[in-house]
Amino acid sequence: MIDLSGKTALVTGAASGIGYGMAKRLAECGANVALCDIESNVKEIANEIGNVTSTKVKSAVVDVREASQIFAFTNEVVDEFSSLDIVVANAGVWTSTDPVEDSQEKAVSDWDLLVDTNLKGIFLTGRAAIPHFVKGRRGFILNIATDHICPPPGFATGGGTRMDIYDASKWGINGLTQSWAKRLSADNVRVNAFCMDATDSEMIRYASQKFNRQMSEEVVDSWMKPHQLADLMLELYDEGSDGRTGENIGIWLNHPIELPPRQGILPSRHP
Ligand SMILES: NC(=O)c1ccc[n+]([C@@H]2O[C@H](COP(=O)([O-])OP(=O)(O)OC[C@H]3O[C@@H](n4cnc5c(N)ncnc54)[C@H](O)[C@@H]3O)[C@@H](O)[C@H]2O)c1
Repeated sequence: MIDLSGKTALVTGAASGIGYGMAKRLAECGANVALCDIESNVKEIANEIGNVTSTKVKSAVVDVREASQIFAFTNEVVDEFSSLDIVVANAGVWTSTDPVEDSQEKAVSDWDLLVDTNLKGIFLTGRAAIPHFVKGRRGFILNIATDHICPPPGFATGGGTRMDIYDASKWGINGLTQSWAKRLSADNVRVNAFCMDATDSEMIRYASQKFNRQMSEEVVDSWMKPHQLADLMLELYDEGSDGRTGENIGIWLNHPIELPPRQGILPSRHP
């Protein structure tokens, strides 16, 4: 197990699902962990993690759509733990959207919710952390995207016909991942994204119900588990300062859960 003693990790959307799995694993490896979520049970979750690990755990109710909240929380974490090493920008929401059947009112309200949470939330989380990373001359950001933007070989991108806004919000993350990776490489800060397939969480269960998909024990068992993604995140972190950056890492069902060969950053056409 990788030893993260003395490191600090911040995870957004940490009260459930993938964020919870990431936060728990980071704490188990010895990192001081800061969990935030819009749901108030994040405090109980943090206590639960603190009780089974010997590390420092901090939590707060934070809406990642609000700059003041995520900026203040990040600053508090650095003040309290004296460093920031790892940020998992994970908080996200999903709802089905239909460009034909939805009312215009629903469309606009869904846009605000999905884009503000999934894209602006990642933007604000990164911008909260970057000044600390640059000051400390090291950092690691993992943005949580989706396999809709990086599908297995042979499949088209996209989540189907009723996810236009979710997909747009997740595609936008690519711009942040790529641009931050290039701009921050000289400061020893790496930025990558996980583009994962179905992973057991409240979100995938809700989405499956919404689309009347079968949720048999066999189907649920076939989904990836948050702790498997957490282990892959640790492997990615462990690549160290000369590890990959700027990559969308596809993690798919019926494929090995492992890091793919490095892609490397292609030369930029723009300064
Ligand atoms: N589960 C999957 O199959 C899957 C696949 C691809 C991508 N993802 C992505 O993984 C991430 C985690 O989702 P999950 O599957 O664990 O679902 P989840 O619903 O269990 O977790 C999402 C967490 O984000 C929190 N959150 C929502 N809005 C927030 C806000 N404004 N501020 C702070 N926290 C907020 C929720 O309260 C929740 O705890 C999301 O970005 C999601 O889009 C999930």
